[in-house]
Amino acid sequence: MRDAAPVSTPLRVLPPNDPRQYDDLAGEWWRPDGAFAMLHWLARARADLVPPASRPDAVLVDLGCGAGLLAPHLAGKGYRHLGVDLTRSALVQAAAHGVTALRADATAVPLAAGCADVVSAGELLEHVPDWRRAVAEACRLLRPGGLLVLDTLNDTVLARLIAVEIGERLPTVPRGIHDPRLFVDARALVAECARHGVALRVRGIRPELGGTLAWLLRRMRSGAADRPVGRTPRIVPTWSRAVLYQGHGVRNG
Ligand SMILES: C[S@@+](CC[C@H](N)C(=O)[O-])C[C@H]1O[C@@H](n2cnc3c(N)ncnc32)[C@H](O)[C@@H]1O
Repeated sequence: MRDAAPVSTPLRVLPPNDPRQYDDLAGEWWRPDGAFAMLHWLARARADLVPPASRPDAVLVDLGCGAGLLAPHLAGKGYRHLGVDLTRSALVQAAAHGVTALRADATAVPLAAGCADVVSAGELLEHVPDWRRAVAEACRLLRPGGLLVLDTLNDTVLARLIAVEIGERLPTVPRGIHDPRLFVDARALVAECARHGVALRVRGIRPELGGTLAWLLRRMRSGAADRPVGRTPRIVPTWSRAVLYQGHGVRNG
């Protein structure tokens, strides 16, 4: 199946975090320098946290999988990649990239408890009005010893400034995609995971500065975002988790 036709701008003005934005931006998912460019960088960094499968038939459940951007970075690691998302147009693309797609809400996933060796929740929690329920589901799906990996935006003034006021004016993040009222306090997330048996360790991450600046300049000069414009910036650890952070933790039992 082919990806949807590219669109470079939303077709209508929708409220912040309105899920219909993902339909309007359906053609952007797999454009490496398109509106979802930074999701590609983050997917690579998230996949780096996932070790090769330790057993045959291992399952990775990708909550809020979008169009399956994690898939190429998991290649060769030995997982069956099961993607859960609400957006049908994204799931069609995920399926075309080898993901077993399931349309469902991440707060009520119709999968058996303990079915997953790995659960990934990449750039999902800050879009879910009840992120605690999504965390509970992520932990429920994990088998004992299973691994949770995630990244999200912190509930801070700095995150609002950098991710929304600045970030959404750059070509790396679609404007209006975030509702900062949904951002996720890192300490509350760690506590919630602990309540569900997962010892989550978090660290701040950010795009590398020089590479991102070079990328932005090239991207602004090149205009159309239908082809890669040079080296992809890497996501690197940083001392502060006040904006973007990554978490990983193993379920006990
Ligand atoms: C910012 S995108 C991240 C997609 C993907 N994880 C990635 O990093 O490329 C957020 C995704 O979460 C999905 N989403 C938002 N709320 C959801 C919910 N309650 N249940 C399932 N998916 C949801 C959206 O449809 C969208 O595909």
